Amino acid sequence: MSASGQPVIILKEGSGESRGREAQRNNITAAKLIAEVVRTSLGPRGMDKMLVDSMGDVTITNDGATMLKELDIQHPAAKMMVEISKATDNEVGDGTTSAVVVAGALLERAEDLIGKDVHPVVIVDGYSRAAEKAQKILEEVAEKVDPESRPDLLKIANTSMLTKLVNEDAPHLAGIVVDAVLLVAEKGADGFKADIENVKVEKKPGGALTDTQMVRGIILDKEVVHSGMPKHADDAKIALVNSALEIEKTEFSAEIRINDPAQMQQFMDEESSILRAMVDKVKSAGATVLICQKGIDDLAQHFMAKAGILAVRRVKESDMTKLAKATGARIVTNLDDLTAKDLGYAKLVEERKLEDDKWVFVEGCKNPKAVTVLVRGGTQRVVDEAERALHDALMVTKDVVEMPAVVAGGGAPEAEVAFQLRAWAQKLTGREQLAALKFADAIESIPLTLAENAGMDPIDTQVDLRARHGKEGKWFGVDAMNGKVADMYAKSVWEPLAVKLQILRGATEAASMILRIDDVIAASKMKAPPTPPGGGMGGMGGMPPMG
Ligand SMILES: Nc1ncnc2c1ncn2[C@@H]1O[C@H](COP(=O)(O)OP(=O)(O)OP(=O)(O)O)[C@@H](O)[C@H]1O
Ligand SMILES: [Mg+2]
Repeated sequence: MSASGQPVIILKEGSGESRGREAQRNNITAAKLIAEVVRTSLGPRGMDKMLVDSMGDVTITNDGATMLKELDIQHPAAKMMVEISKATDNEVGDGTTSAVVVAGALLERAEDLIGKDVHPVVIVDGYSRAAEKAQKILEEVAEKVDPESRPDLLKIANTSMLTKLVNEDAPHLAGIVVDAVLLVAEKGADGFKADIENVKVEKKPGGALTDTQMVRGIILDKEVVHSGMPKHADDAKIALVNSALEIEKTEFSAEIRINDPAQMQQFMDEESSILRAMVDKVKSAGATVLICQKGIDDLAQHFMAKAGILAVRRVKESDMTKLAKATGARIVTNLDDLTAKDLGYAKLVEERKLEDDKWVFVEGCKNPKAVTVLVRGGTQRVVDEAERALHDALMVTKDVVEMPAVVAGGGAPEAEVAFQLRAWAQKLTGREQLAALKFADAIESIPLTLAENAGMDPIDTQVDLRARHGKEGKWFGVDAMNGKVADMYAKSVWEPLAVKLQILRGATEAASMILRIDDVIAASKMKAPPTPPGGGMGGMGGMPPMG
């Protein structure tokens, strides 16, 4: 109300608002629901989700980030949970389910504290200090590894893939992943850098997952441009050109009057000799293969076929860059500049038939800095999920190559962090101690969820884990495959330290962000989000408008 008693309108009519406790409760409930949805898919015994989009397309996956991406989530707090899974995916590639599960657990414990009249700001501070301490503990307990050790990297790639649909073929796929990452990794002043953009993943349904292979070079989803060209070039000398082998058309229209057939012939001869000169340049540089980012004129194709050159046209720019990295060629814009020095090398360039398509394989490159993984599998769904699993495995391998420290899986590091945090919390007082203890409980939700998903008794597991940490060893965790508590490091279930750090950071950030909100003001179109109905996924799609 203004001084004159007139109401002051600041929000558009129809806008909704929810405040204070109510806003907090709504947000926490919505975020916890998201965690509920993904938690049953955590770990090697986790279940898969079948997602059907509005077009009726079906995705079957176990990957947290993928699940949440496919869901049409509207609640703003729930969206924040989706964002941490995305951020985790971008940063480290794995652990997207864990990040959401931990964030949900942090919020659940925060709810207890709010119920005991602890102010959210105090909880956020307490969580933030506990998270810092937890990161330090993780860094201390982590084991150093050699970033170039193939057997060690295999354990990491394997662990990440064991939790996916493709787990039976995990050892085969893990080998491919590690070889690919080691090939593209480059040593710098401060350790290795591995850009997995340089691992091209191509997929083609058909065959079996075990037919998946790595090619030391690039596979192009293109065919050889002219039927008269060779389909096969051994010890290929490859020219990469990013301009067209065509006569440039003028931008403006011009009219040329020809009154004599001889003039016409001369005109055409002129064109043909320009094209011939272009092909001659490719030939005299010594190229046996030409890969062009743009078009190639029919006549130029004909000349090249006659010269025995294998050519591919309209190749994507990103593939050109990878071809340069794989073959050592330099991409040339002006054909006049092309010399023997610019050519790349591949043991074999060959057009091959894959199911119904023809693809060109550029393989057997020397020390390639870009490679291709060709994913095969029974159906489109299998190759799609295999591609997602490969992505996670490539990322965790890269994580360890770049930050060579690992922890055990099976919730062992989480159990150790919880144990050490509880000891540390003894030195704190009052509400801060309460928050730190709740933080420890929340972290412990990872081993407990793994146990639950493996059909083990969560309470027994918790008692067993707590009894062993601090005494028997730091790597005791949930051996989900055998349904008991065991030393997971000894079982070669290894994970990157980088992933665990990111999970902690992401989950704490999301939980704090949600806890700090005490006012939700939504424009008329969205309306303030109501409390989602408890349990089940039903509350998430299309929130009913309020009021
Ligand atoms: N053999 C195993 N026994 C017990 N736990 C395992 C085993 N292998 C992996 N895990 C655990 O499973 C958890 C990972 O599960 P999962 O891969 O389903 O989720 P995520 O990595 O958090 O997310 P996402 O892979 O979907 O991005 C980790 O805590 C890991 O230690
Ligand atoms: Mg995983």
